[in-house]
Amino acid sequence: MSDSIFDSPARANEWDRYWKGSSSANAYSAGGSKHPVLQQFWRELFMASLSEYPQGRMIDLCGGSGAVLSAAEGLSVSEGTELISLDISVSALALVVQNYPYVQTIAADAAHIPLESKTMDLVSSQFGIEYAGEQAMSEVARLPRKGGKLALVLHHSDGLIQQECASSADAIQRLIDSDLISMALDMFEKGYSMLRGAGSDEFHSAARAVNPVYRSLEPIMDEHGVHVAGETIATLYNRIAEIQKNLPRYEETEVIGWLEAMASELPAYADRMVAMCQSGQSPEQFKSFCAHLSQMNYRIQQAHPQQIADTTLPLAWMLVAEKS
Ligand SMILES: C[S@@+](CC[C@H](N)C(=O)[O-])C[C@H]1O[C@@H](n2cnc3c(N)ncnc32)[C@H](O)[C@@H]1O
Repeated sequence: MSDSIFDSPARANEWDRYWKGSSSANAYSAGGSKHPVLQQFWRELFMASLSEYPQGRMIDLCGGSGAVLSAAEGLSVSEGTELISLDISVSALALVVQNYPYVQTIAADAAHIPLESKTMDLVSSQFGIEYAGEQAMSEVARLPRKGGKLALVLHHSDGLIQQECASSADAIQRLIDSDLISMALDMFEKGYSMLRGAGSDEFHSAARAVNPVYRSLEPIMDEHGVHVAGETIATLYNRIAEIQKNLPRYEETEVIGWLEAMASELPAYADRMVAMCQSGQSPEQFKSFCAHLSQMNYRIQQAHPQQIADTTLPLAWMLVAEKS
């Protein structure tokens, strides 16, 4: 289990920064939050819960921009039903309000939920509470009332997403270590000076220095694929070459601004990828959590790794338990 974000406000800020910059609806590109298998899982669960608990209270923990709640869209929700989304990021919650105005939001740490015990009919979390540490695992278990359910989709330590995050973390760290961005900044600054009438020697010498570092992106893409890290590496690789070739066509402030923004965002991105890797639950951790729930009078209804087509790696752990 990773450190609690409560103990690491910096990481909480990173999530907020992530959601602030995101207009997209989920935290992963491929094979992630909105995978059809997961959407189907949540839709079936919501369909059953909405009819089983008319006027029920349902909370999605660490809900991000609402990937789980989106599965309930279009289902008939009786008046009095409460849908709540909790997240540590106010920017994520702002997206929930925008996309699902009927959902209430709570900005809080999942390790310290400001709600009374045994007050919920359905408590859900998808790739969420495992970021908030051991305490969040106990917090989720105290929320359902008798007959209520706990439904969790948890990162699998050997899963597809963990592998994707490990590749992204490695690729971004290698990019940071290469110093390519500051060298490219230096090269372009000299290029624009040249266009303003300064000599060309400085630009050509900076370009010669950049070249081997620029080429060091190739083995990263060979190893991890061109889509690694949300195509950050491939985009940088293509754009640097394109701008260098056609410098007069590009605004200096735009080019410098783009590279400076990237330089400041990369460490946070790498950090988030590492946090995702660390949040993966091993088979032993998952088994022990299930045993803990059984001791707390939960009847386990589903507890298994979720496989998907075209890969032997699991997508996630699936867990549904009913409080008796
Ligand atoms: C990987 S995203 C998953 C979001 C969403 N459940 C989904 O499936 O797309 C993890 C979410 O957990 C939130 N989060 C991280 N640590 C948290 C904490 N300690 N308490 C509450 N939310 C937290 C982040 O802001 C982020 O929205």
